[in-house]
Amino acid sequence: MERKAQASKTETRDGQAASPFLSDIKELRRRAREHIEQGAVTSAYRADIETVIRLLNEALATEIVCVLRYKRHYYMASGIHAQAVAEEFQEHAAEEQGHADQIAERITQLGGEPNLNPEGLLSRSHSEYVEGDGLISMIQEDLVAERIAIESYAEMVRYLGENDPTTRRMMEEILAKEEEHADDLRTLLERLRQDEGVRPD
Ligand SMILES: [Fe+2]
Ligand SMILES: [Fe+2]
Repeated sequence: MERKAQASKTETRDGQAASPFLSDIKELRRRAREHIEQGAVTSAYRADIETVIRLLNEALATEIVCVLRYKRHYYMASGIHAQAVAEEFQEHAAEEQGHADQIAERITQLGGEPNLNPEGLLSRSHSEYVEGDGLISMIQEDLVAERIAIESYAEMVRYLGENDPTTRRMMEEILAKEEEHADDLRTLLERLRQDEGVRPD
């Protein structure tokens, strides 16, 4: 996996357009921060709510991409450890779907429209859709995606502050769940790597 990431970085230096993994994360994080900074300047309520709705739509896209990625991983999981890992993928997929529903509901409460247009879904999302090959690779990709969600949701929580405590509380709950997901994945990864060291797969 490390080798794959390094290869992607080299591609970026060569200026290729193919989605380079590490650079993409930097770009996505930069964009998430940029939106928050723009919103923080605004003090008028209406402008504020527009920023909140845009951020929520990005979080909605992030959740949907996570549902799709976990579903893909659930169906593709194979090997001796597949069942336990697949169950975790399925559980996470269901929880991400729950987050998507909560966020969409909140967007409508704020007078906005949830953007469920498949076109542009991936560019609205903070995390990526990476299929991965093999259980360890899938878990690594999911862990990276969770860490991106954790970082961008934490930024949202800080941005919302006391200006929209209802949305902030919702995002805090979702953030706590993403931290649980990341911890689950880290534990799975450690267990699989240990087992791989003991016996060849
Ligand atoms: Fe989620
Ligand atoms: Fe998650």
